[in-house]
Amino acid sequence: MSYRLDVVSLAPQVFSSLKELGVIGRAFSEKIADLHIHNPRDFAIDRYRKVDDLPYGGGSGMVLKPEPYFAAFDSIPKSSRNRVLMMTPQGNLLSQNDLTRWSTNYEQLILLCGHYEGFDERIRTLADEEVSIGDFVLTGGEIPAMTVVNGVVRLLPGTVGSEESLYLESHTDLLLEHPHYTRPAEFCGLAVPSVLRSGDHNAIKEWRDAQRVKRTKERRPDLYQKWLNKKKVLE
Ligand code: ADE
Repeated sequence: MSYRLDVVSLAPQVFSSLKELGVIGRAFSEKIADLHIHNPRDFAIDRYRKVDDLPYGGGSGMVLKPEPYFAAFDSIPKSSRNRVLMMTPQGNLLSQNDLTRWSTNYEQLILLCGHYEGFDERIRTLADEEVSIGDFVLTGGEIPAMTVVNGVVRLLPGTVGSEESLYLESHTDLLLEHPHYTRPAEFCGLAVPSVLRSGDHNAIKEWRDAQRVKRTKERRPDLYQKWLNKKKVLE
């Protein structure tokens, strides 16, 4: 059975590239996952198909109305193993651990995107979790929702070729990935490290492991510290 993704968004056209491009696009065409977009505007009942209104209490900007949003949400067929995520800069910071959790514990993910200046606070009550992709503000939740769709779908069995390449990569075990090289052996005066061309598999593994530790220590001291602590516990 394929993994079902539903997105509630006022900008459904944004998601078309996701359906068509690359490994993720293939996962959709091969029915590993299914993507459905629901536009609250299609559920607005007034003559102008209005989805936003002035804020109570005054202030600048418009606020997304609850009725068309709830109607769009209610129209989604729900599996008993679904999780509803609201994309907002006020949510929990997204991590690889979240993506793994959603891809393995559920069979349907419903992503709610905010838009414009804000949404009626009652829309929040639909969500099990609120998710932020970083401490910055975008104009809507569409790019954050695409981030989650991409990150979850690539973890589904069959999307990415080898399970090992998923396991070894950055963030699954706290350390960042080691550098990669392909031919030519020298390019613009930059040589491929000789150990990678030695054919000595033990030496290559040692070099890669050491590079991962070095890179993490230099670039992400926070992750390095976590890795050291975890290592101490395991020793
Ligand atoms: N909507 C606007 N900015 C966002 C962010 N950083 N994360 C999630 N949703 C958002």
